[in-house]
Amino acid sequence: LTPQDLAGLTVLVTAGPTREPLDPVRYLTNRSSGKMGYALAEAASQRGAKVILVSGPTSLKAPPIEEVIQVETAIQMYQAVADRFSRANILVKAAAVADYRPDNICDQKIKKAAGEMNIELVANPDILAHMGSRKSDKQFLVGFAAETNDLDKNALSKLEKKNLDLLIANDVTQPGAGFDYDTNAVRIFSKTGTIKEIPVISKNIVAHKILDAVVEFRNC
Ligand code: C5P
Repeated sequence: LTPQDLAGLTVLVTAGPTREPLDPVRYLTNRSSGKMGYALAEAASQRGAKVILVSGPTSLKAPPIEEVIQVETAIQMYQAVADRFSRANILVKAAAVADYRPDNICDQKIKKAAGEMNIELVANPDILAHMGSRKSDKQFLVGFAAETNDLDKNALSKLEKKNLDLLIANDVTQPGAGFDYDTNAVRIFSKTGTIKEIPVISKNIVAHKILDAVVEFRNC
């Protein structure tokens, strides 16, 4: 039987990539499938939480939860999260938000021309860092870090910089871990320095292990 250890709590989950348009037919994006975030939303709901899912474009079917908001760009995701953040006891930011977006969105298809083509990019807001600076003592923030190198060092620095309570790091170069797989392998870092290692296993089980850690560290 699934424990009802999130009953009475509202969990806000973000999932999937963001899509940053260049013109009406083109966009920049990344390899996130949304599977980890959707698994977390479903697992939190099974454990009794009210779940709000803010999702970038994915091919996944929305789980049966309280509210699902579909967005495309990082700015839309920022708005959707900021509008609902005060209602959330726990924020889990599993989305792979694009760090940059094209500075100009052309309203007509960009034509091919001779010579070089340059795209000017500007930084997107860091949604998690903004929520980290706004959060109350009672709110619990979980971030993700997909890394290809210096996993522990980058994870710990992100945890601190973004004022997080928990950081889930995955080495996306490991077989069976990260983008688009049904499995994942992660290391969970807490603010107090505790590390838990979850070996390659299905994303549904990883989701429950992450929520076990949320429950454990929320209560300490
Ligand atoms: O800095 P990095 O992108 O690796 O941080 C990953 C964490 O920060 C993830 O939880 C991601 O959802 C969040 N993030 C965000 N807004 C951004 C970039 C990352 O919320 N613009």
